[in-house]
Amino acid sequence: MDINSISIKQQEPHDLPAICRLIEEAFATVQESDHREQFLVKRLLSSPGFIPELSLTAWIGSELVGYILLTEIEILSKAGSIPTLSLAPLAVRPDFQRQGIGVALIEEAHKRAAELSYETVLVLGHKDYYPRFGYRRAKNFGIIFPFEVPPELCMVKELTTGAASLAAGQVKYPKAFFRILIGPMPLRRTSPDYCISAAIRRAVISDPMTSLYSLKLLIDHQSLCLCEP
Ligand SMILES: CC(C)(COP(=O)(O)OP(=O)(O)OC[C@H]1O[C@@H](n2cnc3c(N)ncnc32)[C@H](O)[C@@H]1OP(=O)(O)O)[C@@H](O)C(=O)NCCC(=O)NCCS
Repeated sequence: MDINSISIKQQEPHDLPAICRLIEEAFATVQESDHREQFLVKRLLSSPGFIPELSLTAWIGSELVGYILLTEIEILSKAGSIPTLSLAPLAVRPDFQRQGIGVALIEEAHKRAAELSYETVLVLGHKDYYPRFGYRRAKNFGIIFPFEVPPELCMVKELTTGAASLAAGQVKYPKAFFRILIGPMPLRRTSPDYCISAAIRRAVISDPMTSLYSLKLLIDHQSLCLCEP
């Protein structure tokens, strides 16, 4: 495949069904995935953090082969709230992987984010993939993710030199990332599942910084499927 034949465009509303299919296929064999990234995208696209210019599709001819989304989140620093971007998700159609499409999408997303004056991008992702784009361990800059995951998976990319150190603080993910846990529970009050889901809801309400990751683990462990849209 000739990498020059890829075109990257801002996502159009009518691309959404194809994007969801692509995401489902791309994450189908990813071990760390909950295979629900397509629902996350739907929530993010209708959330306040959505920035149309940073929802990008990659095409070869008329075929959708990749997708990347950067949404606005914040870091709560000593000086106050600092806007930043969360890279999630990035997906390339399985039969087009390892041919440079991921690289092209990330580089284009970084370029457009810098043009919009964003100074940093955060990612929770593959520790061997993102460093090639300049992502570094966020903890080294005092940027703390609310996830109980190995620190090398939580990374920050500076779009402006020196911006990461100035953004030291606690990363706050908006509720679009958590919606699965706080929507109405379709479970009977008497079932044990109801008690578990109610406990999760309480945890989210009483502690908005509760780790998404540990809650996800709890859900996986209990084989619960809560109210996905
Ligand atoms: C991860 C992903 C987006 C990469 O896109 P891609 O188009 O396949 O990757 P590219 O062709 O741009 O880059 C290829 C390079 O990345 C490396 N790479 C690809 N996936 C990797 C991974 N999961 N971990 C580490 N390196 C990876 C390749 O080894 C290759 O390295 P090389 O150039 O040194 O040989 C794609 O494989 C994908 O959609 N995977 C499933 C979904 C996913 O995991 N998304 C990321 C969530 S954090």
